[in-house]
Amino acid sequence: MRILIIAVLFSLITSCAIAEQKSICTSPLSVHDVMKALVETGTNKIWRAQEVNSDEQWAELRYAAVSIIAGGDLISHGGAGKNDCDWAATTEWQKENSDMITAANDALSAIEKKDLDALSEIGSMALYSPCENCHRLFLKR
Ligand code: HEC
Repeated sequence: MRILIIAVLFSLITSCAIAEQKSICTSPLSVHDVMKALVETGTNKIWRAQEVNSDEQWAELRYAAVSIIAGGDLISHGGAGKNDCDWAATTEWQKENSDMITAANDALSAIEKKDLDALSEIGSMALYSPCENCHRLFLKR
């Protein structure tokens, strides 16, 4: 009886460990789809913002920044593409991705202050570098 209990406990513990490992990378979306649907769409709106005259335009920019943050959050756990889980397991991936999320958060603050100069500066510097860096590291693998 005792052996049986131990055996049951052991199998529970090991199956939990396996389940935990798998749960890290189970996104239904590929990195590629997240890039196109959330990250590219969001950054294009921020990069193209030149004159912002209405509250609606500011609100749209706000959601653009939110899309980038959401995309970054998704791909920090990998994705459904062939290499996505392996990419997300690297420190380089995590670093570039968190730089992108930080920049998008800074963009969000600038948008909330309706500070277009700050937004352009963040867009062309802090938000642009992680795209370049991460693509240089992973895009052609
Ligand atoms: C953490 C890494 C990472 C960051 C940061 C990142 N990307 Fe990507 N991006 C990728 C990878 C990897 C791919 C290729 C995915 C694939 O095809 O499987 C990609 C693909 C893309 C694509 C599609 C390219 C194509 O040929 O279809 C676009 C567009 C894109 N990224 C835009 C951006 C922009 C804009 C930013 C910055 C705001 C950015 N990405 C930041 C990793 C990243």
